[in-house]
Amino acid sequence: MQKFLNKIICGDCIEVLSKVRKPFADLIFADPPFNIGYKYDKYHDKVKSKNYIAWTKDWMAVCKNVLKPYGSFYIAIGDDYAANVKIIADDLGLVMRNWIIWHYTFGQQTKNKFARSHTHIFYFVNDKKNFTFNDCAVRVPSDRQLIYNDKRANPAGKLPDDVWNGYPRVCGTFKERLGWHPCQMPEKLLKRIIAASSNPGDCVLDPFSGSGTTAAVAAQQGRNYVGVEISQEYVGNTNKRLAELKKISVEAANKNPQDKPGG
Ligand SMILES: C[S@@+](CC[C@H](N)C(=O)[O-])C[C@H]1O[C@@H](n2cnc3c(N)ncnc32)[C@H](O)[C@@H]1O
Repeated sequence: MQKFLNKIICGDCIEVLSKVRKPFADLIFADPPFNIGYKYDKYHDKVKSKNYIAWTKDWMAVCKNVLKPYGSFYIAIGDDYAANVKIIADDLGLVMRNWIIWHYTFGQQTKNKFARSHTHIFYFVNDKKNFTFNDCAVRVPSDRQLIYNDKRANPAGKLPDDVWNGYPRVCGTFKERLGWHPCQMPEKLLKRIIAASSNPGDCVLDPFSGSGTTAAVAAQQGRNYVGVEISQEYVGNTNKRLAELKKISVEAANKNPQDKPGG
């Protein structure tokens, strides 16, 4: 797997990952197409339900095979298939730690039902006792600290709830928006997941790399990454995104030599 480290591989994640013999991923973040008719470059996002479920079983199984024994596996999924993902994960022997709801602003407008404003994010691990969870990296100020000025408050803050607010969808007018991918995840959301469930130097795998958000955040946090993406166009654009990031960090290090490794 060494040759794939810090690369975005162009291919079908099932084909690519089923060739790997040894588990290499400390953390997997998977944000597959939700089967809701999004327009992707190379993938048709509206297939028969039974085919989508069979495909979900296949890609989850190959991901589980490359997940290290003490690794963590997060899966983002829409309402329609969240229950299927949970059942497949149970069958694969994954252990659920949280069923997170990402509640976002700027949801899609509707005419005759309530507007959809959430995505499910499952947090699974391979081993129920041994896993990475860096609580200090993700603590947030508590109400005791912020509102009640309560002396009993933990000065380090509290662990976030399993309903995540404060991460709007990356919509058209946002500076972060790259404009060439239909469903770019916010970097801030990936920051929380990567900070909590991996350590510097670990390997983070994204089997549906898309615009490369996972790789971009992993690189910024000193993790290694492997991305797999079926569209050559998205892979090319992601490589530009990652090269730009590298340029910015080299420029920053040149301005502040003390930030350079060994500086
Ligand atoms: C929901 S998007 C991922 C978005 C990503 N999280 C981001 O922040 O940009 C799903 C991606 O999976 C890709 N894809 C679909 N089928 C695939 C497959 N079998 N193997 C690898 N990538 C695939 C699509 O082209 C699309 O870019």
